[in-house]
Amino acid sequence: MALALLVPLLDAGQVAAGEVRAAVASQASADRLTAAHGLRVSTDAAAAWSAPVVLLAVKPQQLDAVARAVPPGQTGLVISVLAGVTLERLERQLPGWRCVRAVPNTPALVGSGLTGLAFAEAVTAAERQWVLELFGRVGEVFQLPESQLDAFLGLTSSGPAFLALVAEAMADGAVAAGLPRQLAHRLAHRTLAGTATLLDQQQLHPGQLKDMVSSPAGTTIAGLRELERSGLRSALLEAVLRAAERSRELSG
Ligand SMILES: NC(=O)c1ccc[n+]([C@@H]2O[C@H](COP(=O)([O-])OP(=O)(O)OC[C@H]3O[C@@H](n4cnc5c(N)ncnc54)[C@H](OP(=O)(O)O)[C@@H]3O)[C@@H](O)[C@H]2O)c1
Repeated sequence: MALALLVPLLDAGQVAAGEVRAAVASQASADRLTAAHGLRVSTDAAAAWSAPVVLLAVKPQQLDAVARAVPPGQTGLVISVLAGVTLERLERQLPGWRCVRAVPNTPALVGSGLTGLAFAEAVTAAERQWVLELFGRVGEVFQLPESQLDAFLGLTSSGPAFLALVAEAMADGAVAAGLPRQLAHRLAHRTLAGTATLLDQQQLHPGQLKDMVSSPAGTTIAGLRELERSGLRSALLEAVLRAAERSRELSG
C-alpha cells in the first residue's frame, strides 16, 4: 500500500527518491525497493521514524513492533493506513505524535484512488491541508467522521478485490462461450471501467442502467435472472459488510 501511494508521486516528480527514508522488515524487500525505485531503504524502523512525516503502512499485527522502534523523544506527523486501527489506539501507542488515519485504495497506483481521512485533534490546520493535497495527487479524498472509515474501507479498499473476482469470473464466462482468454480479460476490464464511467458521468442510479440494457425476453434479462438465482446481490452486500466488520475487529 505504501508503494501504491509513493510510486505515482515519485513518477510525477512530486517527491524525489532521495527525500524518502523507507523501512521494511526484510533485506530482500529493501534490495528490491532500492533496485526498482532508487529508494534508501533500511531494515531498521527507527530510520523511518526520524522523517518529518511518517507514512505507516505495516500490517495491523505489526504495529506493536514498529511502535517500539520510535526513538525516545521523537514526535511528528504520522499517517497510518492500517486497517481498523483507530486514532485513539495510534495516539496511545505513539504518544506525542500527531496522528492521521487514512483509508486509501490500490487504484491510487494509476491516479484513480479513493482515500478516506480522519484527523486527531492535535493535527494542525496546515498539516491537514498538506495531507489532503498529498492524497489528492493520487485520486479523490473524503474527510469523514472516523466512525465511517470502516464502512469506507469495506467498499473502497476491499472493493478492488471483489471487483477483480467479478472481472475474472465474467472473463471465464466469455471463455466458456468461445472467446480467447486474453481478449476475454481485456473486454471484462473495459466493461467494468466503461460501466463505472457511465454511471458516474451521467449520474445514473445502477437500477436505471440495468433497466436500460434489459430488453423484454432479451439476453441481458436472461443473464440477470441467473445472477438473482445465485444470490450475487446478497453475496456482494455481505462481502462489503463483512470487510467493514473485520476492520472494526482489527481495531482492538
Ligand atoms: N492492500 C490494500 O489494498 C490496503 C488498502 C488500505 C489499507 N491497507 C493497509 O495497509 C497496510 C499494509 O498492507 P499491505 O497489503 O501493503 O501489506 P504488506 O505488503 O505486507 O506491507 C507491509 C510492509 O511492512 C513492512 N514491515 C513489517 N514489519 C516491519 C517492521 N517491524 N519494520 C519495518 N517494516 C516492517 C514489510 O516489510 P517486508 O516487505 O520486508 O515484509 C512490508 O514491506 C495494512 O495495515 C493494511 O490494512 C491496505
